[in-house]
Amino acid sequence: MDKAVAGVMANAAANIDMSRHRFCWAIAVVLGLVSIVLASRIMVGGVVGTSPDGRAAIIVTPAERDLVLEEMRGLLEAVQTIIVANNAGDLNTVAVAGRKVGRANMGPQSAEFAARLPMGFRKLGMDTHLRFDQLALDAEQFGSTEQVSQQLGELTGNCVACHRAYRLVASDPG
Ligand code: HEC
Repeated sequence: MDKAVAGVMANAAANIDMSRHRFCWAIAVVLGLVSIVLASRIMVGGVVGTSPDGRAAIIVTPAERDLVLEEMRGLLEAVQTIIVANNAGDLNTVAVAGRKVGRANMGPQSAEFAARLPMGFRKLGMDTHLRFDQLALDAEQFGSTEQVSQQLGELTGNCVACHRAYRLVASDPG
């Protein structure tokens, strides 16, 4: 093999090496981007953007939206029952209404659905259920209508905070 041929072959080998390197880099970059996208999906859950009214839009199926809204109407009902019963000094009814929307009676949403919800949303939701439990327990233990009223005021701050921050937007039927 003369020198010129050897030189060409060496060059070709170096080129193949270079393009292998580039290929590896490309794969690394693509994998990196994929992990960033996956990680951000896990972190922000189903939020895909801001709705025109400025709130974060959580994309859910129509059935999931119906489930959440049904649970919401249950929360409003509990608030109303608690106010009326508390005004009448009926702390037993206050406790029953609070427990009905407490942790043990949370909505039947699947774990997969919960995992798609933004962390802030899940925290506020869980805290709300726990506060209803606490209100029920304290109503029984202390029998103080002032305390119930105070706790209900604080608890409904969660309703306001969540409604201010999030919207549920139904995707295609699924
Ligand atoms: C973790 C978040 C969160 C909390 C906490 C929360 N809500 Fe909601 N609620 C929502 C979302 C999201 C909607 C749908 C809003 C939309 O898509 O415009 C909603 C809707 C509702 C609706 C409308 C139901 C329907 O059928 O259209 C009612 C009533 C309601 N909430 C009551 C309450 C009450 C009362 C509380 C507090 C005791 C509460 N919510 C706490 C997130 C929350």
